[in-house]
Amino acid sequence: MRLSLRLCIASVIVLTQLVHGALCWGKDGHYTVCKIAEGYFEEETVAAVKKLLPESAEGDLASVCSWPDEIKRFSEWDWTSALHYVNTPDYRCNYEYCRDCHDSHKQKDVCVTGAIFNYTKQLMTASDNLHTLVHSYNLTEALMFLSHYMGDIHQPLHTGFPGDLGGNTIILNWYHNQTNLHRVWDNMIIETALKTYYNSSLPLMIQSLEAKLTNRWSHKVQSWESCKHKQTACPNQYASESIKLACKYAYRNATPGTTLGDEYFLSRLPVLEKRLAQGGIRLAATLNRIFSAKPKLSSA
Ligand SMILES: *[C@@H]1O[C@H](CO)[C@@H](O)[C@H](O)[C@H]1NC(C)=O
Ligand SMILES: *[C@@H]1O[C@H](CO)[C@@H](O)[C@H](O)[C@H]1NC(C)=O
Ligand SMILES: *[C@@H]1O[C@H](CO)[C@@H](O)[C@H](O)[C@H]1NC(C)=O
Ligand SMILES: *[C@@H]1O[C@H](CO)[C@@H](O)[C@H](O)[C@H]1NC(C)=O
Ligand SMILES: [Zn+2]
Repeated sequence: MRLSLRLCIASVIVLTQLVHGALCWGKDGHYTVCKIAEGYFEEETVAAVKKLLPESAEGDLASVCSWPDEIKRFSEWDWTSALHYVNTPDYRCNYEYCRDCHDSHKQKDVCVTGAIFNYTKQLMTASDNLHTLVHSYNLTEALMFLSHYMGDIHQPLHTGFPGDLGGNTIILNWYHNQTNLHRVWDNMIIETALKTYYNSSLPLMIQSLEAKLTNRWSHKVQSWESCKHKQTACPNQYASESIKLACKYAYRNATPGTTLGDEYFLSRLPVLEKRLAQGGIRLAATLNRIFSAKPKLSSA
């Protein structure tokens, strides 16, 4: 009896993680965030990132920013699937680290904000004492995880309600196709924008966001970059923003069975574009704080 109950609970947990972890900001979203970030790297950051990247990246961080999604289906990486999101209480529309950052076993710090703190700390420690360092962490992995999770945390529904698994169980239509709300925000809005405005070219969309960063958003960039209290990374702030945007834009008018079309697409696209841009700016700012303050890693 006890064993079967435990097995049952275990399988529910596994299923939950499979469903929730099934998707992330699609490849295009992560590529965009990292590509925008690269344009804002300081010199020391360029050098340190280059040094840490795996060979397969051929010097381009953006090309490995989906790596944490690719590995999480393998059993040895199973433990990372809870690091892609954080659940906040249903309908409350707020986020608190101590209350919310845990996995389904109530294991503390196992969530996207905890992971960002974790990998920031690993990279900081390494750049502090490169010469005396006992390599207890794989810093190539730390860089790829940090870059990926900084993207995820800017996707509003990666800070979502547990009751619908961040929109994964809200089945609805995106124009003529059946999908779920989480997927709409990971992939569909971006795909539709690419087809509608950018001749299906991701580089064109990235260029357009970069242009907005130097025009429409130029006076905002500095405030996006900054963290309170001289912190190196401040993911809690981004999670709070995300759940507010999830409530105000993602969940609104997107109940099960509805058909989302032009009205939803046109009003949500600006929100999503801004999140991609903020993700890029903040990833760069965080890496700059990690590496530029401690130039040893790059000059070693
Ligand atoms: C921190 O990173 C290490 C190395 O990847 C990992 O073993 C640990 O589970 C991580 N902890 C969190 C909370 O992400
Ligand atoms: C670090 O991690 C990467 C990606 O998982 C792997 O290819 C590489 O072999 C690891 N390096 C070490 C020294 O373990
Ligand atoms: C619907 O799905 C088809 C087949 O996967 C795809 O080609 C099409 O672009 C999708 N339409 C929208 C609006 O996403
Ligand atoms: C759109 O892309 C296609 C190839 O993908 C290219 O042949 C065409 O010239 C592009 N159109 C414009 C207006 O850039
Ligand atoms: Zn992810």
